[in-house]
Amino acid sequence: MRVGSDPASEVYVRNKAKKARELGLEGTELIHPETMSEAELLAEVERLNRDDDVDGILVQLPLPKQIDPMKVIDAIDPAKDVDGFHPINVGMLHLGRPSLAPCTPAGVIRLIESTGQPIEGKHAVVIGRSDIVGKPVAALLLQRHATVTICHSRTRDLAAIAREADVLVAAIGKARFVTADMIKPSAIVIDVGINRLIVDGAGKLAGDVDFNAASEVAGWITPVPGGVGPMTIAMLMKNTVTAAERRRA
Ligand code: GUN
Repeated sequence: MRVGSDPASEVYVRNKAKKARELGLEGTELIHPETMSEAELLAEVERLNRDDDVDGILVQLPLPKQIDPMKVIDAIDPAKDVDGFHPINVGMLHLGRPSLAPCTPAGVIRLIESTGQPIEGKHAVVIGRSDIVGKPVAALLLQRHATVTICHSRTRDLAAIAREADVLVAAIGKARFVTADMIKPSAIVIDVGINRLIVDGAGKLAGDVDFNAASEVAGWITPVPGGVGPMTIAMLMKNTVTAAERRRA
């Protein structure tokens, strides 16, 4: 579900619904006007909670300023919360109990696992402490027995900490923040950033990592676009199937 017409959200929601339909799930884009009130959106979430034909509900963020995203997330039935944002699912995740894990963090873990390298015992450094990426990525890495450091805007000597990382997850939201000198040789580097840059007058997507220079140092590195983004959608599809199966079990 989308409220308003944020251009990035338009693309994200369209791609999610399209992928669902490609896979034979019934993906419906519900689009509401920018002026929708909080009460109206909460009523719409309630309607979807009660609809037994609906297995997954996703409200794209950010929401217009008159709507408190926390109230909306809290209103979603945790069993249908395919984003994994409801406090029940966040709590379950941090306890290591089976839940609907947030999609981007789950995708990050899959990418790390795809290297074939064990996560156990590695030093993982997560740059960024957001509720939707940094914190849940750190929780998932800890569950897999990594030694986890979370860095953020107040961290002292961040570059030195990053250089210690066997696994470096960049989720800061600043274009090309991570430079080659901040990467340990042969490290696994996962770039979660999606930053819009203007280069020679044209719009361009850039990650949080300076990809060209970093790829000379890293052992593995994900590109932007084409790295974490498609994994987020894949994990959303997986969560939707999991939610459907659990609701019928
Ligand atoms: N906005 C940015 N990322 C996400 C996401 O994973 N889910 C939702 N609902 N909104 C987002």
